[in-house]
Amino acid sequence: MITNEYVEGATPLDPDELAGLKYKHITTRGQLDELEQANIVTGLLWLKKSIARDDVLTSNFAMDLHKALFKDVWTWAGTFRLTEKNIGIDPYGISVALRNLLDDLSAWIEYKSYPPVEAVLRFHHQLVKIHLFPNGNGRFSRIYADIVAEKYFSIPPINWGGRELDKITQIRKDYINALRAADGGDLSIIFELYGCD
Ligand SMILES: Nc1ncnc2c1ncn2[C@@H]1O[C@H](COP(=O)(O)OP(=O)(O)OP(=O)(O)O)[C@@H](O)[C@H]1O
Ligand SMILES: [Mg+2]
Repeated sequence: MITNEYVEGATPLDPDELAGLKYKHITTRGQLDELEQANIVTGLLWLKKSIARDDVLTSNFAMDLHKALFKDVWTWAGTFRLTEKNIGIDPYGISVALRNLLDDLSAWIEYKSYPPVEAVLRFHHQLVKIHLFPNGNGRFSRIYADIVAEKYFSIPPINWGGRELDKITQIRKDYINALRAADGGDLSIIFELYGCD
């Protein structure tokens, strides 16, 4: 079973969630990361075809996306979290919170409420803050934000820092600090970090 070393700002898994690991032989975090990364690559191919769907701003799409990204590794891919975490809302509130966020985002798009990058970053922050799934929320929410950027705002993806963000790097520290500031209501740090004025 994998050891419990986590990079800063990652969510630890509980025993039931760990039991959902489809590869029983893996022993290190590094092996898990590689398996997840391989699944994400196939998930991104699914996404390329699926971005044309007309239901991208629905809970159903969000669940399908998480499933496509993690289904080869975790039995619970695409299903909402049932346990409390150090980050995220009460699990019982997840589906309503997600629906509200997607409704808000639809309104921001329709009424051009914010500059495009700001809207995308607000969406990303709210999504990770809900913390829909037992794991994979960061990667899922960055990918989801990037599709929203492309499909609804016609802007390039956010430069999150690639896989450096998965490791203990300054890039990750800056990202987590920006999210924490946003939790406290200060979005200026995340806006500055990812390039809006
Ligand atoms: N204080 C915070 N407020 C909001 N979101 C946070 C906070 N701290 C961490 N996060 C988000 O939670 C993610 C970690 O959750 P989780 O482990 O489910 O995602 P992951 O995709 O497995 O990991 P990661 O993207 O961190 O490599 C971080 O990437 C970040 O997006
Ligand atoms: Mg994680």
